[in-house]
Amino acid sequence: MELKVKDFDDYQKTYDDSVKNPEEFWEGIAETFFWKKKWTNVLSWDFDKPDIKWFENGKVNISENCLDRHIYNNGDKPAIIWEPNDPSEAARILSYKQLLEKVEQFANVLKNNGVRKGDRVCIYLPMVPELPIAILACARIGAIHSVVFGGFSAQSISDRINDAQCSLVITADGGFRGSKVIELKSIVDDALVTCDSVEKVIVLTRARIGVSMIKGRDVWWEDEIHKVESQGNPVCPAEEMDAEDTLFILYTSGSTGKPKGVVHTTGGYMVYTGYTFSNVFQYNPEEIFFCTADIGWITGHSYIVYGPLSQGATSVMFEGVPTWPDAGRMWDIVEKHKVNILYTAPTAIRSLMAAGDEYVDGKDLSSITKLGSVGEPINEEAWNWYNEKVGKGKAPIVDTWWQTENGGILISPIAGVTPTKPGYAMLPLPGVQPVLVDEKGKVLEGNGVSGNLCIKFPWPGMLRTTWGDHERCRQTYFSTYKGMYFTGDGCLRDEDGHYRITGRVDDVLNVSGHRIGTAELENAINMHSDVVESAIVGYPHPVKGQGIYAFVILDNVHHDEDLTRKDINATVSRIIGAIAKPDIIQFVPDLPKTRSGKIMRRILRKIVEGDLGSIGDVSTLLDPSIVEEIKDGAAKMK
Ligand code: WTA
Repeated sequence: MELKVKDFDDYQKTYDDSVKNPEEFWEGIAETFFWKKKWTNVLSWDFDKPDIKWFENGKVNISENCLDRHIYNNGDKPAIIWEPNDPSEAARILSYKQLLEKVEQFANVLKNNGVRKGDRVCIYLPMVPELPIAILACARIGAIHSVVFGGFSAQSISDRINDAQCSLVITADGGFRGSKVIELKSIVDDALVTCDSVEKVIVLTRARIGVSMIKGRDVWWEDEIHKVESQGNPVCPAEEMDAEDTLFILYTSGSTGKPKGVVHTTGGYMVYTGYTFSNVFQYNPEEIFFCTADIGWITGHSYIVYGPLSQGATSVMFEGVPTWPDAGRMWDIVEKHKVNILYTAPTAIRSLMAAGDEYVDGKDLSSITKLGSVGEPINEEAWNWYNEKVGKGKAPIVDTWWQTENGGILISPIAGVTPTKPGYAMLPLPGVQPVLVDEKGKVLEGNGVSGNLCIKFPWPGMLRTTWGDHERCRQTYFSTYKGMYFTGDGCLRDEDGHYRITGRVDDVLNVSGHRIGTAELENAINMHSDVVESAIVGYPHPVKGQGIYAFVILDNVHHDEDLTRKDINATVSRIIGAIAKPDIIQFVPDLPKTRSGKIMRRILRKIVEGDLGSIGDVSTLLDPSIVEEIKDGAAKMK
């Protein structure tokens, strides 16, 4: 079966077929992959439990699909082009053959260090080729990887390690990001003080900084590779995995509690990421694909590693940041590696746009034929700039909507096939059945409606559970509306049936495309010894999309407010990571609460959005006068 639709008529026909006969549709897609043993049943599902199984009893290994199956015809084709942080350092190119060799080698390193099928491995690495190598090596032997983004703190790492009971950690001495060196190993050392499950740490040399190495626990990546070489570099056959065996865990923030470990399984995730990569980007075999995400997030998992590699594509990965050494860096990379398809986030577009056109004008972007956007709503101004300055009005922009829990893109234009409109994710991909529901759960039929976005039928890439806590998965995603997966996003379907995602309707913020849970952040702030209580809301931010606004009640002791703000930021950095630091901290004597003590975030949101006219009735509050006081204080903050 052809994965790419040919034109809009073909899309419509394929879509209709996929709804009428979903099992037949997905079976056709799955057959384009390499299975060690075919499934006996395409799908069984029950959203109430939830219990979802795709390609039951099928046996498969995703690393074999990403590597081995391309070797015969495309062994010398570049699989990964790696661009270092420092533009004067040489780029590295790994062909499919070379990548396979490295993956097998490192898979043997993992085995030598006691890792077995089903064991959990935490990966805390910078954006270097060894990161996808480590991921694919885990997949090869059936170990479950849990990648932790390099911007998270020691505390966040240890929470994730303990939750998944990881037995091994893969890290580096340090990593480069722009002008900074991040001391990854030292952060891991702090994390491991409270992690009893970890037996081994493999440390890659990248930044060449001094690190402490603990005898019996810590080993060097390079030494371990030498050992495998001296064993004669044996091959490492790909473990036979069940389609429903867990491939990886990725932690993500929700509206309550600590981040949860989203579980993706092998067969469905492979089929879904490969299919959506090929179809959405209309990937042609000679094209160079550059996704600027960090592999620490789902976008990097699905569209730097698994999706492109399962399709035999050339995937560019970049170690640094788009604004270093200057705001032209991304365009330099496009020029240097002749990138054809660029997939980035609105926050990056806005920051490069703000830096000035002089950084993009004059760069040779003639290789670009298709553009993508992901992670947050894209505003019209950024969309137009991306279209004109980067795509020169000729490259279709696919505004791809999806979530960590979804595995891959759900609602998006198909490049060059679907018409596009700024700010619109347009139409569901084949196999995806979105519905809009009102607060009461009534399905809103027809066009020109807006409501909460749900998906009423399973797709292969969806999460199966949250690690160690199935009930939490049910509660979070499958209990709000019976028989449906609830996304947490609001959405509009216009008169033409086109979808526009309007943002989260729950207490999750999206700051520079990163998900931040308000409860998690409030808990971190409340750890500060001077803080009595806090409330977090998002506010419109010109570059980040949403900024973090913290209302904080301090104890009665006199405080130097500027110093306390710094202390609160330091506390947040330590407990979660610097990405969660509030942009604005306003000290308040109290918070607007109902008589039962519930914080009225709606009111706080209106205040920070400057929408004072629609605050509404405050007479039911415990202390209505507090609203005026907070308003006055907020007016002084900006
Ligand atoms: C938001 C990132 C508007 C949305 C892949 C979702 C978007 C959350 C878009 C998931 C888009 C993602 N337009 N909003 N194209 N893409 N979002 O889990 O609110 O990091 O629920 O996955 O980002 O973020 P996550």
